Amino acid sequence: MNPNELKAMVGREATAYVSPGMLVGVGTGSTVNHFIEALARMKQGIAGAVSSSHATTARLRALGIMVVDANEVESLEVYIDGADEIDHRGFMVKGGGGALTREKIVAAMAQRFICIAVESKLVPTLGTFPLPVEVIPMAAKLVARRLRALGGEPVLREGVTTDNGCQILDVRGLHIADPLAMEHEINQWPGVVTVGVFARNKANVCLLGTDQGVKTLNF
Ligand code: A5P
Repeated sequence: MNPNELKAMVGREATAYVSPGMLVGVGTGSTVNHFIEALARMKQGIAGAVSSSHATTARLRALGIMVVDANEVESLEVYIDGADEIDHRGFMVKGGGGALTREKIVAAMAQRFICIAVESKLVPTLGTFPLPVEVIPMAAKLVARRLRALGGEPVLREGVTTDNGCQILDVRGLHIADPLAMEHEINQWPGVVTVGVFARNKANVCLLGTDQGVKTLNF
């Protein structure tokens, strides 16, 4: 199967976690886009969705799925999203698509994070994929210096402004052996909006697309 077929397979499989009347937290990215298509086929049965980006909101609405403002919702049963990397404990790197802040907000509202990903995203240790860090523009250089001091090589994502009016630094060269500690550390720096390590809001389940079918990992 090619990567797109694997993404479509896990996107469809994720609908098994959606029950009647549910408000669903919906992530961002090419894998989630397949989930949104599958969700649209059952849209009469759900209450609506809380979205993690302008792009996802547009796609949900185009397919007739009602989008509910996060501030109108107390909690969600599930959040369904992709990842750039996921390890064997359910810790992830996210933000390749630039939506990490809103993704983390919606993930934090949910009782369970269902990650949908192709097999190549599963890694022994996070850090090969450049770690996205969303920053307030004024702090970009300050945060970049601190990331260099940690051993990383940050590069500003040129021409990108996030849904929150901020910038993204993509950081190569970090070996994220302790995701909880790294998330905690970088999160505290002035000017950092969100770091793309999802450790506190890690996956509870990963639906992994393989040539042999969907493999379910429970964390
Ligand atoms: C979006 O900002 C990211 O966190 C995505 O969830 C992640 O990049 C996965 O995207 P794909 O499904 O397109 O690989």
